[in-house]
Amino acid sequence: MTTPFDALVEEYASWWIDFLGEHSHIGGAEATRWLLQRADLKPGDRMLDAGAFIGASARLAAASGALPVATDLNVDFLNAGRAMPGGESVQWLLASTNRLPFEDAVFASVWCLDSYLAPRELSRVAGPRSTLCLCCEVPTDGRGGVEAFIDEWESYGWRLGAHRAMSIEATQTWRRAEADLVRKRNIYEPRYGKRPYLAQLDLVGNLVASYERGEQGHGLFVFARG
Ligand SMILES: C[S@@+](CC[C@H](N)C(=O)[O-])C[C@H]1O[C@@H](n2cnc3c(N)ncnc32)[C@H](O)[C@@H]1O
Repeated sequence: MTTPFDALVEEYASWWIDFLGEHSHIGGAEATRWLLQRADLKPGDRMLDAGAFIGASARLAAASGALPVATDLNVDFLNAGRAMPGGESVQWLLASTNRLPFEDAVFASVWCLDSYLAPRELSRVAGPRSTLCLCCEVPTDGRGGVEAFIDEWESYGWRLGAHRAMSIEATQTWRRAEADLVRKRNIYEPRYGKRPYLAQLDLVGNLVASYERGEQGHGLFVFARG
């Protein structure tokens, strides 16, 4: 039987669906669980999964009693998530993280995992006593490093509760992706087309090189306020 996720993989032949899976961020489901353990979400609390893809994090949070909303720019991803196990417990909304269709201060926990980060907007919709869970690339070079990243969020009233550096996991993820792109060329090339296929290989190769040169880092962050 074809699952809604299989159907998406067929339709969206993009490397991040192939290589990251349903929990489409570095660290996968294990990273989601690490964040959930620290998000201080209680049954009935509202949670926002911004840039949710198929809302794997939102569906996991719903399973522990939270009331999640999953937003994304792509309606096909939201529809697939709605049809997956636990999808009925999540509210699905087409919206850009740049401009979220919510009143101020309505969420107990705001999540944005390997998606577009809009600090002002994500902070606006978070409640006065809330948490913020991020999985993202962070600068490690002359831009000021991870401290500058944390400073920016602190300027919106957040204080850091937990941080886990994920750069080794990120390097390994993209190394595996690079190896798969080479090994399964006969599968991927017809899907991507020759030039886009080579561009994907270059992109993943450049990501690996930047992590290995220490120009870029990746991390999980849990901030809190109130
Ligand atoms: C790598 S996936 C991460 C998905 C999800 N957060 C997860 O961890 O499984 C990136 C997602 O961000 C969405 N996205 C990118 N830019 C966005 C934006 N400005 N507003 C809302 N969603 C966005 C994409 O459509 C995609 O579903």
